[in-house]
Amino acid sequence: MKVGIDRIRFYTPRWYVDMAKLAKARHEEPGKYLIGIGQSKQAVIPNTQDAVTMAANAADQIINDNNRDQIDLVLFGTESGIDNSKSAAIYLQHLLQLRADIQSVELKQACYAMTAGIQLAKDHVLAHPASKVLVVGSDIARYGLHTAGEPTQGGGAVAMIISADPKILAIEEPSAHYTADIMDFWRPLYATEAVVDGKYSSQEYIDFFDRTLTEYQTKTKSSLADLQAVIFHLPYTKMGLKALKSVLNRTDERHANQLLREFEYSRIFSREVGNLYTGSLYLSLLSLLVNSENLKSGQKIGLFSYGSGAEGEFYVATLQTNFQTAIESGSIKKVLEDREELSISEYETMFNSQMPLTNDNFVTNDKLDSAKFYLAGQKDQQRL
Ligand code: CAA
Repeated sequence: MKVGIDRIRFYTPRWYVDMAKLAKARHEEPGKYLIGIGQSKQAVIPNTQDAVTMAANAADQIINDNNRDQIDLVLFGTESGIDNSKSAAIYLQHLLQLRADIQSVELKQACYAMTAGIQLAKDHVLAHPASKVLVVGSDIARYGLHTAGEPTQGGGAVAMIISADPKILAIEEPSAHYTADIMDFWRPLYATEAVVDGKYSSQEYIDFFDRTLTEYQTKTKSSLADLQAVIFHLPYTKMGLKALKSVLNRTDERHANQLLREFEYSRIFSREVGNLYTGSLYLSLLSLLVNSENLKSGQKIGLFSYGSGAEGEFYVATLQTNFQTAIESGSIKKVLEDREELSISEYETMFNSQMPLTNDNFVTNDKLDSAKFYLAGQKDQQRL
């Protein structure tokens, strides 16, 4: 039985900042952000959106009256959780009016958690073939104004339905994993911004890619030449390019150029949004599927997932017949086309107006937010 991605959509808030202008404001060469980091625009997340509302805005696009009652498991990957106890998946289940007799849980392992959700969903469907699983990854990537990580911020959510006979991608066995206890990037419980050892995290990312790809090739006796494209978790788009370049000596020049071409298609959307943390690899997937003109059903795509701390996975998925129709490219492009640019000072004001972690009663400027789901504030220590 084939199991994999049947539907997939993405949401990011309406606002962005231009990276060339941000570079100037930070007294950096625009080339550093545009080429050296590989980002053109960065999503700015208002205080009317959090991990739950962004996930709801993404998932609402793929849940309808035909499939709502078939969802029997919700897996919510996030590292921007809104509660230390109650799972973000419970809020999502309620907002989307899913059945009550289902399982809903939040998963955490930095940016890797959505991949964990997809693989757990696949096993669930293999055990229960009629089931459909809603898997989401939703995050706000925050490092702080005037930090080295600032040009690698961003945010948004990707939602997908994992089912049997998927319309878009079938997930293949096996996967290759590598896990090690390292401190490259983390967020202590008291902090709203991540702590990061930037250079070390980038080296570890490449090392984990090398290890998992090698392990995958050993397990499956396959080579890079079997893959039409390799796509990446993109904390910043140059990171994926560096990782890809580090293994191109494993294939011939013609195929190496093909992988580089497909990589360019896969980074178009992340260039415009920034880091999505858990959803980032799947924004690369959407970008490849929407923008590449070379893809055909039956071709295989390699996916590298990395979550700091750290856990990596490399796996392969196969494009299904009619995947182009199932992707609904127009609606996906529209999310990016409908955005508005903020000046640097407007961005800084929005960045600083996040709901404080300790404030009991707080009202957001919800009139600003035209999204279907938004955060209205906090009252009696409950989010509204
Ligand atoms: N034109 C073109 N390129 C230029 C340039 C110019 N004018 N000026 C500088 N550059 C290049 C530099 O040569 C460098 O390129 P290489 O990396 O290829 O050498 C690049 O721009 C960046 O310059 P710096 O290394 O000087 O940048 P920095 O020290 O200010 O910080 C960073 C870069 C470490 C990525 C920092 O933004 C950061 O810490 N980001 C957050 C951490 C991160 O994203 N880590 C990724 C792996 S961890 C992960 O994947 C999990 C996750 O999601 C966080």
